[in-house]
Amino acid sequence: MEAGLLLLLSALLGTAAALSFYGDSISFMPLQKKSDGTFQVTFYHRQNSRGSCQTQSSFTCDSGVCNSFNSSSIQHGDQDNTGQGQWCQSEGYATAIISKNKTSFSLRGSGCCWVSNINGKRNWTTHAVLDLGTRSDSHTLNSCPVTTTVSYLRVPQNCFKRISLLTHDPDGDNVRCRFSSDASVPSNFTLNETLCMLTSTGQVDIGTQIFEVILEDFPITNITLTYADGTSASREVSDPNLPSLCKVKVQFSVEILPPILSCEVGGMQPIFLSKTPSHGDVLHATVGQTFQFYAQAQAQHARINDFQINGPQNMSKLFKEGESGKAEVTVSWTPQQSDLYRFIPVCFTAETNKTQSEMRCIVVMVTQASIIQGKATVECSPNMMKVALDKASMPGLNENFLKLIDPSCSLTSNNTHIMGSMSFSTCGTKVEDKGDFIIFKNKINSFELPSEVITRRREVQIEFSCQFPKAITVSSYYSLHKSDYIFTESSFGTFGYTFEIFHDGNFTNKVDARAYPVEVQLLQKVFMGIEAKSELPNVKLYVESCKATPDDNPENSLSYDLIKNGCLKDETVKVHPSGQNSFNFEIQAFKFTGPLLNQVYITCSVILCEPDNPFSRCAQGCLENPSRRRRRGLGMETVDHYITQGPLQFVRSAVPNDANKDDSVMEKTDKGPVSPPPVSRDTESKSEEHWNTKQILNTNISTVVFACIFVGSVVFMGLIVFYFSKKRKEEDRNALIHSGWEQ
Ligand SMILES: *[C@@H]1O[C@H](CO)[C@@H](O)[C@H](O)[C@H]1NC(C)=O
Ligand SMILES: *[C@@H]1O[C@H](CO)[C@@H](O)[C@H](O)[C@H]1NC(C)=O
Ligand SMILES: *[C@@H]1O[C@H](CO)[C@@H](O)[C@H](O)[C@H]1NC(C)=O
Ligand SMILES: *[C@@H]1O[C@H](CO)[C@@H](O)[C@H](O)[C@H]1NC(C)=O
Ligand SMILES: *[C@@H]1O[C@H](CO)[C@@H](O)[C@H](O)[C@H]1NC(C)=O
Ligand SMILES: *[C@@H]1O[C@H](CO)[C@@H](O)[C@H](O)[C@H]1NC(C)=O
Ligand SMILES: *[C@@H]1O[C@H](CO)[C@@H](O)[C@H](O)[C@H]1NC(C)=O
Ligand SMILES: *[C@@H]1O[C@H](CO)[C@@H](O)[C@H](O)[C@H]1NC(C)=O
Ligand SMILES: *[C@@H]1O[C@H](CO)[C@@H](O)[C@H](O)[C@H]1NC(C)=O
Ligand SMILES: *[C@@H]1O[C@H](CO)[C@@H](O)[C@H](O)[C@H]1NC(C)=O
Repeated sequence: MEAGLLLLLSALLGTAAALSFYGDSISFMPLQKKSDGTFQVTFYHRQNSRGSCQTQSSFTCDSGVCNSFNSSSIQHGDQDNTGQGQWCQSEGYATAIISKNKTSFSLRGSGCCWVSNINGKRNWTTHAVLDLGTRSDSHTLNSCPVTTTVSYLRVPQNCFKRISLLTHDPDGDNVRCRFSSDASVPSNFTLNETLCMLTSTGQVDIGTQIFEVILEDFPITNITLTYADGTSASREVSDPNLPSLCKVKVQFSVEILPPILSCEVGGMQPIFLSKTPSHGDVLHATVGQTFQFYAQAQAQHARINDFQINGPQNMSKLFKEGESGKAEVTVSWTPQQSDLYRFIPVCFTAETNKTQSEMRCIVVMVTQASIIQGKATVECSPNMMKVALDKASMPGLNENFLKLIDPSCSLTSNNTHIMGSMSFSTCGTKVEDKGDFIIFKNKINSFELPSEVITRRREVQIEFSCQFPKAITVSSYYSLHKSDYIFTESSFGTFGYTFEIFHDGNFTNKVDARAYPVEVQLLQKVFMGIEAKSELPNVKLYVESCKATPDDNPENSLSYDLIKNGCLKDETVKVHPSGQNSFNFEIQAFKFTGPLLNQVYITCSVILCEPDNPFSRCAQGCLENPSRRRRRGLGMETVDHYITQGPLQFVRSAVPNDANKDDSVMEKTDKGPVSPPPVSRDTESKSEEHWNTKQILNTNISTVVFACIFVGSVVFMGLIVFYFSKKRKEEDRNALIHSGWEQ
């Protein structure tokens, strides 16, 4: 057979039967052109399987293209340590020498056998095709996107939301994904080809499902490819039939488990906390130095027993369990000289014995030891993000060759600094939901003029971000109406919120600050609106709870829930439609029963979410009967650690003297074992059996007193309360220059 060179990558040879293949991925090292005109290509093959990592696969390379094919032995990576042998990862690599003058290289692999699956698949195949041109934009040989998945993906049927595949292209190309054309697609699954995200279009079947996905990359600017044989080809972005620069297959299986009771993220299913890198982050490692990253997750109703890590050979992990359902892992790895310039995909999940967290993946880029650590400062305000690079720390930096994600935004400079300033909706700023924080990210990259033939390459990549606590408490309280005040700290900010009273249900005319205190009558409708005061393009405001207290202490034991866990608790609360940055609602005025309780303070806890993130609290809506402890636990984390109450002032209302006279009038009678909310609003109160107010209110004398109490006593103030954080994020700026990449 003229199929070219055949290579057998195998471990535990001779175990012929019952191999359970979960999937695999191929990633290429940057190509090298040898002095004799041949190319050296090294590829890593990561394979996932059940049990003890028995792997056997064979690769072929077209004849006439490859003239040698060497392989390493396969090494085991991370594996299931629960004793059930559910998953095991292994990696091997091979180097091929490609003949002179070739313009592309293709590789095929195959093996046996897929884990038993409901798609009826058995043998597996993989392939990759790589264009061998030198690119006009980077002056280097073209490279392939990198991706991988964790070994064993599983999700209860009712909890399947999405799986985001990693797509990182070292050349900065656009990566698109599609299902492999020779493979059937599991029913009710769909793949967004630009986001590379697998989602469902209906109920998905229980059992193991197989996915075969092709990643292809396309240039984002017009480029020319020059080949060793002297030919060249131009690639115009506008061309609808643009051939991909590289094509590489990734395959994985997802075990759809029987449904579970609750899919609340952070409950049964672990949620990643902010210490964890974001999906798609590029981290840098240096040859000879230990590289580490941390991931932290929390599940309040399950025990996180491990993290699956799919990474390079010899990557190690240290698992640690923490309190309140938290667990973290420290992942370490020391790149060798042979790893230099590799882009290494690493994926991870947090595991419980029933399910797992979403899968996150990062890319570790191995550079020489000569990375210069630059200095940069980031400043965050509710509307703006500013970055200033210290020129002295990064010699040779020139703002004319730096760009933000959106290159039409320009950078400015003075003698000492290069500055960029942008709102959260401009310059390509991206928003991301990190569980406990919402993060806005942008980065500064170097670029080259297409006309310039550059011999010395210096790449700059400076990522910066502003992060804001997601959950915050806003209050409307008594007779204090001051102008907006925003507290900020460098690289960490707090959004401003307004909490206003409106004249009517149109929510357009605010009650003027000078008109405060607002006087409302008993049963009168009060229209209130909360708005995140910031240019928040892609953020949804969600009101998780609102409660009333008779004083400015939201923790007062005397309180009444209007909204709790996203559910309306008071039947007079009506939510009016509003934009995604605001929340408008009305209630009927009430007061607390009891003497001297003439004021009502409304405190709401609001959360910001990435709007289309199905894992976010916003997406979950009303959670009836969630465990009290759990919800508080999640809320408390933010409150305790990140939020401090702003300056609060208490101003006593001018209540008519006789309003306080008769202590007995509004007293509630505590009959039942469960104390009802000590609130009175209405003689027709449905809770009449709990609140013994009806009789009293029906008498003339009490009505008079009642009226007196309410004139000027139930007052809402539109006002802004700002909380600020004391916690500074250790590492949200990341500046580096790296040089290299000469071929
Ligand atoms: C492959 O291995 C042979 C023998 O060990 C060696 O001579 C050759 O240089 C190797 N080729 C590559 C591309 O590493
Ligand atoms: C699967 O692989 C085996 C062994 O390589 C081969 O004999 C068989 O024909 C293959 N089956 C299919 C359906 O390709
Ligand atoms: C993929 O996602 C993007 C971004 O959300 C969206 O604009 C696009 O329409 C989606 N594509 C398909 C085919 O759904
Ligand atoms: C796909 O989803 C729809 C809607 O949930 C469901 O009715 C249908 O049975 C599903 N198809 C399969 C093959 O499971
Ligand atoms: C790419 O080339 C085409 C044809 O030459 C041209 O029309 C188009 O404007 C170019 N696009 C960019 C982004 O330069
Ligand atoms: C490579 O291409 C050049 C120019 O076309 C030609 O002179 C040379 O003979 C070719 N080499 C091989 C090995 O084909
Ligand atoms: C992994 O570690 C072993 C033992 O320390 C070593 O022999 C091997 O070369 C390492 N492999 C890689 C790829 O670093
Ligand atoms: C899963 O974990 C829970 C709580 O730790 C334990 O009660 C249960 O027995 C475990 N189930 C399995 C199948 O290991
Ligand atoms: C340059 O701008 C930075 C950032 O705004 C500022 O801190 C610095 O003082 C300025 N330097 C000079 C010389 O104006
Ligand atoms: C809202 O505004 C419109 C026009 O300004 C007015 O006709 C309508 O009565 C208002 N609605 C309420 C509830 O006040």
